[in-house]
Amino acid sequence: MHIDIITLFPSMFDEIFSQSILHRAIEKGLLSVNFIDLRGYSTNNYKSVDDYSYGGGAGMVMQIEPIANCLADLQAKRSYGDIIYTAPDGEQLSQAVCNELSLKDNICILCGHYKGVDERVRKHLITREISIGDYVLSGGELAAAVIADSVARLLPGVLSDETSALSDSFQDGLVSPPVYSRPADYNGWKVPDVLLSGNQRLIDDWRLEQSVERTKERRPNLL
Ligand code: ADE
Repeated sequence: MHIDIITLFPSMFDEIFSQSILHRAIEKGLLSVNFIDLRGYSTNNYKSVDDYSYGGGAGMVMQIEPIANCLADLQAKRSYGDIIYTAPDGEQLSQAVCNELSLKDNICILCGHYKGVDERVRKHLITREISIGDYVLSGGELAAAVIADSVARLLPGVLSDETSALSDSFQDGLVSPPVYSRPADYNGWKVPDVLLSGNQRLIDDWRLEQSVERTKERRPNLL
């Protein structure tokens, strides 16, 4: 999969993509990511890409021209399964959305900023708007990183154990069961006997039961 991220702050992504699973996905050639500095498409000498809002009011608006020119350049090189705009009023990111995005060959993410983007960008240039939750971030970069991370880990071969993405919370509409590691007894806090039993069928049944119980308790909306 290839992800293009259009941003005013490309260096914000440096660490995120050079560590852990995202880094491994890139090293293995399963993911490539390109950061495009929107200021490179500014139409003025000040490298600005925002302007006052028509009709007045506080906050600057990201202009359509730099974004349209940037997208035209990118689309001359590849076509996208989705061009995503990060916005707090977008469709909420969910595991189902991540699964869907992970099937696309190329996606492009436009990081929002300021008071928002000229409405014509939303209407005509992008294909999808995604929010990572009901709170307002100071920019779309963190949202883009969340989207890229949650999608990249689903690409076949990215996780070392193919089944581990399948047993993630939410993947089957349930949250994950509890997990334990050594020691089996820490100051009297014991690991459930069933996990030490060696009986895989009992363990699987217990895990499913725990998942259902936890989902009822913590996220009943999923049931
Ligand atoms: N930009 C600002 N807040 C955001 C949010 N919650 N999700 C996605 N993009 C955003």
